[in-house]
Amino acid sequence: MIQFEHVSKSYGKTPVLKDLNFTIPDGQFVVLIGPSGCGKTTTMKMINRLLEPDTGTIRIDGKDVHSQDKVELRRHIGYVIQQIGLFPNMTVAQNICVVPRLLKYDKARCDEIVQEMLQLVHMEQYANKYPSELSGGQQQRIGVLRALAASPPIVLMDEPFSALDPLTRESLQDEVKSLQQKLNKTIVFVSHDMSEALKLADIIIFMSAGEVVQMASPEEMLEHPANDLVRTFMGKHTPDTAPSKVESFMRTNVFSVHKDRGVLECAERMARGSVDTLLVTDEQNRYLGTISIGDIRHWGRELTTIEPLIRQTARTVRVGDEAKESFDYLLDSGANYVVVLNADDTIAGIVTKTSVARSVAENLWGEAK
Ligand SMILES: Nc1ncnc2c1ncn2[C@@H]1O[C@H](COP(=O)(O)OP(=O)(O)O)[C@@H](O)[C@H]1O
Ligand SMILES: [Mg+2]
Repeated sequence: MIQFEHVSKSYGKTPVLKDLNFTIPDGQFVVLIGPSGCGKTTTMKMINRLLEPDTGTIRIDGKDVHSQDKVELRRHIGYVIQQIGLFPNMTVAQNICVVPRLLKYDKARCDEIVQEMLQLVHMEQYANKYPSELSGGQQQRIGVLRALAASPPIVLMDEPFSALDPLTRESLQDEVKSLQQKLNKTIVFVSHDMSEALKLADIIIFMSAGEVVQMASPEEMLEHPANDLVRTFMGKHTPDTAPSKVESFMRTNVFSVHKDRGVLECAERMARGSVDTLLVTDEQNRYLGTISIGDIRHWGRELTTIEPLIRQTARTVRVGDEAKESFDYLLDSGANYVVVLNADDTIAGIVTKTSVARSVAENLWGEAK
């Protein structure tokens, strides 16, 4: 457990961290996120005493880090950053074993650790290579292993993947997440990339101008962002959870008429709209059924209003229903549409094959104009 209690820090007269208070439980993947310069790195560096707060206390498992020997402390806290790479004159194996050797593990134990670590990322064959023989992604993988090698309960990672190409970054994110779950570490990870945070975090701590704006699970933050800045940061990630409800796939401009309308008038509306059915509603705009041009041609002559021609043959669903059933129905039945009703039985829209295709395209390629 890592606790920040009233932690503040200034550079000169400029306050950089303002009264930080939060607790990170064991075994959690915590992502510190926020705009550049908001104090993420400063916050992180206080955990392993690379920086000291002006006021306030940081505790690990209840013990004030300030009372602990710095070097000893850091040996039990893994640290991965973007810029500092591997030692170029050491092999991969030697790089991984830097901390175990400092901790005076014997040679056999060190060899074992190298094997275990390399197996985790399927790089066993690289043990005796030098960093210059590896790609950037492979080097950063070894950097992560180096931080994990002495099995520290806590690992700090400061934008460790931001210099990598997107594909490599994604695969390293997957690896780190699965390592964390396998090894049950507490990871504090700095990022300025919300998609990275959403992918990795059990808990996101959102910082702005030296303060914690919100600390919440990714789901909670997506659903209830604390303010506009958080919302903006979430930005286009909100719809990343693929829409699955029927209202995301319907069109809302539908042709509907009241049941007391005349037959001729309805026939004309159909002709004008190039449709062969209309939705029919009662006085309170509640859905009653549909009328078709076929029925009007066949029976319409003897009638004044359309009411006797209303049929309840169209499939209806409710706003909030899963869209999949409607898709299946449209594909299997050959029906032209499904009617979507609001809770009060008024018409919300209709789902057609075209409206589905359009919504899917918008989700894949952005707003179709
Ligand atoms: N050594 C320093 N001297 C003066 N100001 C600093 C120093 N280090 C960081 N800062 C300032 O402190 C603020 C927070 O920096 P930092 O924690 O690195 O932010 P982040 O990691 O969120 O981008 C920034 O405004 C930065 O310019
Ligand atoms: Mg930083």
